[in-house]
Amino acid sequence: MTYAAITGWGKCLPPNVLTNADLATFLDTNDEWITSRTGISERRISHVSLEEMAYVSSMRALAAAGLDPADVELIVVGTCSFDDQVPNQASGLQVRLGAKRAASYDVNTACTSFLYALSTANALIRTGVVRNAVVVGGELISAFMDWHNRGVCVLFGDGCAAVVLEATDKVEGLLGEKLGCDSDARNTLVVEGMGGRYCNKGLPYGQTSWTFEGPEIFKRAVLGMSGACADVLAAQGYKVDDVDVVIPHQANLRIMDAVAKRVGAPADRMFVNVQKYGNMSAATVAVALVEAIEEGRVQPGSLLLLPAFGAGLTWCAHLIRWGQRTTPLGTTDIELPPSDRTALEIVQGYLKKAG
Ligand SMILES: CC(C)(COP(=O)(O)OP(=O)(O)OC[C@H]1O[C@@H](n2cnc3c(N)ncnc32)[C@H](O)[C@@H]1OP(=O)(O)O)[C@@H](O)C(=O)NCCC(=O)NCCS
Repeated sequence: MTYAAITGWGKCLPPNVLTNADLATFLDTNDEWITSRTGISERRISHVSLEEMAYVSSMRALAAAGLDPADVELIVVGTCSFDDQVPNQASGLQVRLGAKRAASYDVNTACTSFLYALSTANALIRTGVVRNAVVVGGELISAFMDWHNRGVCVLFGDGCAAVVLEATDKVEGLLGEKLGCDSDARNTLVVEGMGGRYCNKGLPYGQTSWTFEGPEIFKRAVLGMSGACADVLAAQGYKVDDVDVVIPHQANLRIMDAVAKRVGAPADRMFVNVQKYGNMSAATVAVALVEAIEEGRVQPGSLLLLPAFGAGLTWCAHLIRWGQRTTPLGTTDIELPPSDRTALEIVQGYLKKAG
């Protein structure tokens, strides 16, 4: 039987840091409220396009896998904050990589997009359609943020990461997943301004207003993620004690704690980096996976459980058996271009344009 091993991984975080104190310079908020309700201390704000972050992440992941971009057969980008909707994000990345042989498409399930993208690429490898894939989770959410809304903008940040999948006959990579959508609650998270229904109505594209029912999303996210974890573990014949690392969607520390409690996973088995980046939507699980490897939390043969939720309200949990290699085969010196503005200056620019 064919499996899809994860053979390469790379992340790209924009260098500009927006702290809770920075947010308090233009919003009625403070560090104590944000850290106690969410666990977030700072987030990154990108000075470059999503394509640029996806390019750097993918080149790092390909170097780690030792795979030539010219040999890539599939590119899947998970995101909801496209640079362009037409043509798609993945084809832009394909041009940058020079991956002429690849098929390229995007997946949008909001914050779960990286994991849903992983599901599709895994399935195409396991059914023999392609032999390898680059899967990206990335967002430039700052460009679509309502920076006047303190209930939302303090939660999110920009970032990107990528993995390389390659066909193998060893039992590793994505063993199984549980996917679902609590669509009765789709109106609890709506970004008005992002989509065709707002076009040609005199509104500048990108100027948004967020409907965001935080406590309701919180409740449903905990139920969706913990239910998906229980289902995927049972379907694959594992117990939570078999899991070495839980790498959840990083939206809110309190949500992660509640999921760990319901699933029965000890807190020290959970990987957390929300304090550094906030909720990077599709990039959160991807970046957390890369950092869990870099920090030695993922060991040869580790069993990983990755639960997530996003607007829709989509939810899922993925079970991954890591292979024997936890170090990159190679590295690249490709970097983002330097920024001539601070994170706060970039956000002030958005505030000025939104009026
Ligand atoms: C958004 C969230 C952090 C709010 O936490 P909460 O404990 O539920 O807080 P509440 O929404 O009840 O707000 C409490 C108060 O804080 C205020 N508040 C909201 N944002 C604030 C901010 N940035 N700074 C200070 N006060 C703030 C509210 O106005 C409210 O004030 P009031 O009681 O006077 O009306 C939490 O509900 C959450 O994380 N939900 C999940 C959302 C999510 O992750 N979505 C992503 C989907 S992928």
